Amino acid sequence: MRKIPFGPTYEEMLNPGSVDSKTRNKALAAIENELDPINLFNITWKDENDQVRKIVLDKKLTGVDCNIIVLTGKDFPSGSHKVGPAYSTLIEGCVDQTIIPGEHTILGPSTGNFGIGVAYICNLMGYEAIVIMPDNMSKERYQRIERYGAKLDLTPGTESDVILTLERTFKLKEDPKNRSLAQFELLPNYRFHRHVTGNSAIEAVKGIGNSRIACFCSAPGSAGTLGAGDQIKKAFPEAKVAALEPYECSTLMNGGRGQHRIEGIGDKMCTLIHNILNTDFIALIKDDDCVKGLKIIHDGPGILSEAGVSPVEIDKMKELFGVSSICNIIGAIKMAKYLRLGPDDNVVTVATDGYDRYDSVIRNLEKRYLETEDFVLRRWFNDVFRKNGVEDIADYRSSEQKDKLFKQKEKDWLKFGYSQAYLDSMKDMRFWDHEYEKIFAYDQEIVRLREDK
Ligand SMILES: Cc1ncc(COP(=O)(O)O)c(C=O)c1O
Repeated sequence: MRKIPFGPTYEEMLNPGSVDSKTRNKALAAIENELDPINLFNITWKDENDQVRKIVLDKKLTGVDCNIIVLTGKDFPSGSHKVGPAYSTLIEGCVDQTIIPGEHTILGPSTGNFGIGVAYICNLMGYEAIVIMPDNMSKERYQRIERYGAKLDLTPGTESDVILTLERTFKLKEDPKNRSLAQFELLPNYRFHRHVTGNSAIEAVKGIGNSRIACFCSAPGSAGTLGAGDQIKKAFPEAKVAALEPYECSTLMNGGRGQHRIEGIGDKMCTLIHNILNTDFIALIKDDDCVKGLKIIHDGPGILSEAGVSPVEIDKMKELFGVSSICNIIGAIKMAKYLRLGPDDNVVTVATDGYDRYDSVIRNLEKRYLETEDFVLRRWFNDVFRKNGVEDIADYRSSEQKDKLFKQKEKDWLKFGYSQAYLDSMKDMRFWDHEYEKIFAYDQEIVRLREDK
């Protein structure tokens, strides 16, 4: 009988408490030993007590009345939630028999964290992996990928850096041995975030404010995380979804293709798996605000304390965020102001990864600015967290604005062989609901096949 690598279902990633207790306890005990394959059962937003890992930001930091809740991704195996889409894509391939251990090499096109996730799960599940990524990402990313035993195939970091990784992957796919975990185009990424992240977000706000979600913000790379918004809207139809882009080269809002400093987002395309129907707003965030914000959170406890942030919160936040997390937090603050949210309202966002892969980015900031004394950090604190307002936010709910995004998607994907009819089918919410519902059949098959001895 055919077997697949032993790993969780979508439902078990959402509710690890539903995993049989022997496997769950073994997984929790193996956290320190990250290359033990049982860690696949630690791919979840939940901690050992089945609570969503999150932080409700101190209002002395955000300066807004509403509650901003950040789901924290750094405790996922491999250090970011991107391991979830990587695993989901691989396990669906195993179920579909398109990816066979020992026969296929896995390709992971990425700006880093997805590549780290691919390298990691391939190590655990016994596949060779090649990560294709631009050569201008933080050095901590390359080190991790190599530590997990994957090969690196670097493309030039230029104006169209992610497109180059896609073109390179397209070329490598000509070898029948290679299979791509194509995060920008394959729907397991959407399924993971809609089911696992979306329902975790819904759980995370219970008991906070009105226990509903007024707005969900996420800066898209692949736009997988934005898929959580679809599930959030099913639970809270009034919820708004905001996509955040780098101000320096916004692609969705302005067709921009330039460089920016928020690693992992702003990948210069409208990804195939981006459900445009559910993007209500686009907000632009200045890239250096995110790097400066991270410097303050990590190295400016005195400045945070002066502003009234509690010592416990200062300590809790220190390692929790990366650069794109600060982008998401700034976006949440801007949207709270734009939507005029009050103390009963909740804005939810995510911290994709933590500080551990950004030390070199902060050292670079210090080199660029020369002065990072307290008086400079104090000014940055105000500029980044307090003065960011409602500028650079556009409403994308009208059909004209949606059409603009559909056109961008066509420009980006017709050239990779997707048909106009397929792209058109994505203009109907039934496409997304149908894709989402496949989760239940995949879960049944994962259980059946992993239990075949
Ligand atoms: C650090 C970081 N932030 C944000 C994102 C964007 O997440 P998504 O691809 O789900 O849109 C990524 C994606 O790789 C990332 O690595």
